[in-house]
Amino acid sequence: MNRDVIIACDFNSKADLMAFLDNFNNEERKPFLKVGMELFYAEGPAIVKEIKARGHKIFLDLKLHDIPNTVKKAMSVLSDLDVDITNLHAAGTNAMMEAALEGLTRADGSRPLLIAVTQLTSTSEERMKEDLLIDHPLDEVVMHYAKNAKVSGLDGVVCSPLEAGKVKDVCGEAFLTITPGVRFADGEAGDQVRVTTPAKARELGSDYIVVGRPITQAADPVAAYRRCVSEFLGE
Ligand code: C5P
Repeated sequence: MNRDVIIACDFNSKADLMAFLDNFNNEERKPFLKVGMELFYAEGPAIVKEIKARGHKIFLDLKLHDIPNTVKKAMSVLSDLDVDITNLHAAGTNAMMEAALEGLTRADGSRPLLIAVTQLTSTSEERMKEDLLIDHPLDEVVMHYAKNAKVSGLDGVVCSPLEAGKVKDVCGEAFLTITPGVRFADGEAGDQVRVTTPAKARELGSDYIVVGRPITQAADPVAAYRRCVSEFLGE
């Protein structure tokens, strides 16, 4: 089982990222890192290659959503970057998810894990109804999109730790759940509303927790990372 703690590297420059990563130079365990739009658009694909060269695994969080052919070709380029996990919006339809998977798969059959975003946690049921004209309850929509991702051959979804158990019930135990919204019991929630601790996320069945500010903004990031690993993985 590949459970792990993923640090969300929400920095807007290489200099800030490298200053942060230097804290971990003497660590035996190289943290799994999430690179999102901010850093990728600021620094380009070169930043992914540099992080890889330092020995980190990478979740490239670019949330693709376009016509199937465009997503397929983009995924093929991302696959060449040799990231470990990448993602897209399930709202792009099953045809888009299937095309993405095809584009991501290399000639030798290997590929990064492909994860779907269902409904963003910033979308309320009210906004979904008013803005998107989707009339079903939010949790039904999330589970439906998760099932679509599963039948399209994807490996899992990004969701709240509180939804992880239900996703597993609907899509099977092997279907991965990647869960942000994690905070230490004695920490600040910031702008995250529905939060759980690393230990609770483990209990609820998360496969990967994505943790940003509790580690990146900590006075001692290495200690905060170690604490996450110890609470989530029991190591
Ligand atoms: O700093 P924090 O721990 O809140 O960072 C969480 C990370 O997970 C951020 O990169 C954020 O964009 C991402 N994320 C999230 N909620 C989602 C999807 C992604 O917080 N539903």
